[in-house]
Amino acid sequence: MKRFEFRNGDAIDAIGLGTWKSEPGEVGQAVEAALEAGYRHIDCAAIYRNEAEIGEALQKVFSRGEIEREDVHITSKLWNTAHLPEDVVPALNKTLSDLRLDYLDLYLIHWPVAFRRGLEGFPQSESDYLTPDQAPIIETWKAMLAARDQGLIRHAGVSNFSARKLDELAGDGTELPEMNQVELHPYLQQDALLAYCRQHDILVTAYSPLGSSDRPESMKGEDEPSLLENEVIGEIAENNSATPAQVLTAWAVARDTIVIPKSTNPDHIRKNLESTELELDGRDMQRIRDLDLHYRYIGGDSFRTESGLYGNIFDD
Ligand code: A2P
Repeated sequence: MKRFEFRNGDAIDAIGLGTWKSEPGEVGQAVEAALEAGYRHIDCAAIYRNEAEIGEALQKVFSRGEIEREDVHITSKLWNTAHLPEDVVPALNKTLSDLRLDYLDLYLIHWPVAFRRGLEGFPQSESDYLTPDQAPIIETWKAMLAARDQGLIRHAGVSNFSARKLDELAGDGTELPEMNQVELHPYLQQDALLAYCRQHDILVTAYSPLGSSDRPESMKGEDEPSLLENEVIGEIAENNSATPAQVLTAWAVARDTIVIPKSTNPDHIRKNLESTELELDGRDMQRIRDLDLHYRYIGGDSFRTESGLYGNIFDD
């Protein structure tokens, strides 16, 4: 398994288990199956509303003694309702308590958008947001670094940040995030953002690497293209005696990104990890390169307000 290094030399496995959309009642067994299959990297978030069940599963596995806490990299994310600096550690403590951990390996600001404290669900009107002046992202970021200095997290990063948003953090002379987790797959290859991150020593994690077709219908575009059913991906899979999901996962790793395919199906979970055995050749890589559509499955529409408070969140 390829691993990537944080700035202090700590390493993270290239493939982790995604848990967004993993339902309560299913996510615990998925995490157990993943750890049994050899995953040592689990990607979580408070807003997935399944961290308590993941915590139970982790506890169960660790108590068996074969896998220790230190062996597993666990990421979680700060939800948009907790961007005020004084809300960061309480939100983090809730996640730690749900996951039954005393530290996280990595904590990310989930979105560069602040909601008012206590908001349930997504904003219904502009008053459900905090403005960038009320909740400056740089202050949220400094609170993340302070949490790291307290030992609650080993590494701090962000998610869904464009290069311009990262620049906002860099402008202050503050330490830059160590990770940016963004949507990345053959239909959204984001070469410029990857180059920016590489140049600034920021690791990149690819989310929705398989096209997230289990998203709620309300989040889907009309006639959205399927990645798992893409003809070229299918052909490459067949030629390599692999599955489409393995091709998509191996492609992400070959580009030096970390990747977190979500599954609650034990067979898929195992097979996705076995993509480490698949090596795509130059021709396969070029064929996939040609698939780029600049297509987002996860658009920024949820954050569009009447007055354009947060503008075009992805700056594209
Ligand atoms: P399941 O949980 O039943 O395995 P993404 O990681 O892009 O969010 O995509 C997740 C979707 O891909 C889920 O619907 C998941 O279903 C499905 N999936 C995950 N692994 C595989 C696989 N190996 N083959 C087919 N579908 C998969």
